[in-house]
Amino acid sequence: MKVGAKIASGKTKNIYELDDPSLVLIEFRDDVTALDGRKRDFIAGKGAINAAITAKLMEVLNTSQTPTHFVKLEPPSAIIAKRLRMLPLEVVCRNIAAGHLVKRLPFKEGDLLDPPIVEFYLKDDERGDPMVNKRHMAALGLATPSEAEYMEEATLKANEVLKRFLASRELTLIDFKLEFGKLPDGSLIIGDELDPDCMRIRDSSTGRILDKDLYRRGSPLEEVLKAYLECKRRIVEGG
Ligand code: TMP
Ligand code: ASP
Repeated sequence: MKVGAKIASGKTKNIYELDDPSLVLIEFRDDVTALDGRKRDFIAGKGAINAAITAKLMEVLNTSQTPTHFVKLEPPSAIIAKRLRMLPLEVVCRNIAAGHLVKRLPFKEGDLLDPPIVEFYLKDDERGDPMVNKRHMAALGLATPSEAEYMEEATLKANEVLKRFLASRELTLIDFKLEFGKLPDGSLIIGDELDPDCMRIRDSSTGRILDKDLYRRGSPLEEVLKAYLECKRRIVEGG
């Protein structure tokens, strides 16, 4: 398929038009960022790892009645996906307390959250991605109450599917972030990525961190790369 003009460029991905206007090419770059883009580095090979992990996890969701935009992996570091009109929202699902949750509220790191917690954030780096509720989203014209309800239910369903799949690879899903977009008919589906940049994943038996928390905590970049490679080995190769 012929790759056309660049449509958008984010902190870690570029998006290109394809000759089929209903599809896009999403290229995963080797950039790694944290603190809303204020900390930034390059890890050679990370883009290809994240493309492969996103492809596998979205394939798992697609075959479990939890539709995503994913169509096909385009090696080494891109995917072909359905073109969506993205909502400027991040939907976070938490199974175990970590990160911002333990900073903001009286939870202790490691507390089990059963049932899981779902939170919505506005994608707005300048405002530090503030948390929003269903009424904020309706008032801002971002999502109707029924669309917000759908995203919450789809996120909880994706959580069950991903938790089960990752457990089969000896991995524990602490939390993750999804983004949703609209198809031309107005229906909402999961877009963006699904990889260790936007999920907290731990080794089920040792608790070893296998995600971007290593980078956020200042680990050497080689250690971050090793963890991402281990994640890919388990998730994609099943080893
Ligand atoms: P948090 O504890 O920092 O709110 O993160 C919860 C989960 O969401 C974690 O797996 C990382 C992911 N996340 C992103 O992918 N992008 C973001 O901007 C934020 C804040 C979180
Ligand atoms: N704020 C998020 C994080 O620290 C995402 C980012 O800025 O890249 O992971």
